[in-house]
Amino acid sequence: MVVDDNPQMRMALKQILEAEKHQVVEAENGKIARELIPLESPDIIISDFQMPFLDGLELLRWVKMNQKTPFILITAFGHIIETQQAFKDGADDFLTKPFKKADILAAIQKILSAQTPETPKNLDQEFCRIPIDDFISNDGIRIGIHIRLSPEKYLRVAHQGDDIQAERVDHYKSKGVDYLYAKKDEFALLVGFNIKLAKMVKSSTALDFEKKTNFLRYTTETVMENMMVNGVHKTSFNHAKECMKTYVSLLSESESIFQIMSALNSHGNWLYGHSLGVSVYSIMIGKKLGWTSTVTFFKLGMAGLFHDIGSKEIDLRILEKDRLLMNNEERTTYETHPYRGKEILERLPEVSGEVVQIVYDHHENCTGQGYPRHISKDKIHPLSKVIAVADHFCYQALKSPYSTGAQPREIVDKMIQIYSQELDGPALHALGALCM
Ligand SMILES: [Fe+2]
Repeated sequence: MVVDDNPQMRMALKQILEAEKHQVVEAENGKIARELIPLESPDIIISDFQMPFLDGLELLRWVKMNQKTPFILITAFGHIIETQQAFKDGADDFLTKPFKKADILAAIQKILSAQTPETPKNLDQEFCRIPIDDFISNDGIRIGIHIRLSPEKYLRVAHQGDDIQAERVDHYKSKGVDYLYAKKDEFALLVGFNIKLAKMVKSSTALDFEKKTNFLRYTTETVMENMMVNGVHKTSFNHAKECMKTYVSLLSESESIFQIMSALNSHGNWLYGHSLGVSVYSIMIGKKLGWTSTVTFFKLGMAGLFHDIGSKEIDLRILEKDRLLMNNEERTTYETHPYRGKEILERLPEVSGEVVQIVYDHHENCTGQGYPRHISKDKIHPLSKVIAVADHFCYQALKSPYSTGAQPREIVDKMIQIYSQELDGPALHALGALCM
């Protein structure tokens, strides 16, 4: 049964379905459909959302209260709240306007083949998140964009090639949508596109430092998300490299630790925010130490970005705990992350041995009581000592499940008081000078 007040739409659907040998009954609104359903006993109902007398949502509720006929609701981009409601009310599938013939046939096929119900599949591993605040609306988006209704149900709201205007994104935001989603195999395309855009953003004279930082933060988040979901491989590593090159050059525009802080704290994912923070502040510390080599800054930036990559393999419940509150078992697991990071990076010929070493040593300390190797001060890679200072700082300065973010100056004073034996003195004081 096709329920729609628009005769052209009903006709188009009818033609598509009849060409596939389905019998079609038409109803021009929900009220008429309600009268016809008991007489016709349709196998599937495909209904528009907005209709006079009785709309699609009301019809759906009536259908689900009285019988179990599968229901496909046709929605528009603006109806996100109603779509979420319809999902709760039992809609079996959705078609978002404008849809294609293949979408309708796929939705019907899915319902017909699911007559013998199987356990719904958790799709969370198949999608990557894009924080809606950072989503760049543009013409002809290169990937399909989805909204998550539940772990088992993602609704596609834009096809590859559709135009997504800023107003539409704002509309979703106003309806409380925090994230848009892309299929993970398409996500890498978005990352590549963002990196190209980031280079343009970086060289733009029309944008201020804060806007540029915000865009780069977003680009890095997509790069990190891609690595977390799709794994660290040649392409994702090269994306990170491109991103870091742009960062190193952007950081020549400002020396203010504070200007970057708000961008880092608005990171959708605190783990990525932390990695980027360590990366950026390590470069700034390096500069304050009087270093000038771009190659060194690049190594610091990459090692900063990857320093906790090993934690990718550790349970999030452990990572979200304050390190001081971990029990012995949790601490032992947590402390495997430098080694796991080393193993992940060593598999990639693109990663320099030095970056691997810096990542491996980032929890060693100058008293020889760090981990995993408990090596002495002179054996620790010099750049690891800078990363360790930035890591300590970001652990307390940035917002996370275990920190609300303290004032930079206070943190550095405390670090000097408590950790001056463990951390590298010159790097610690360089950070102090940045926080003046
Ligand atoms: Fe770490």
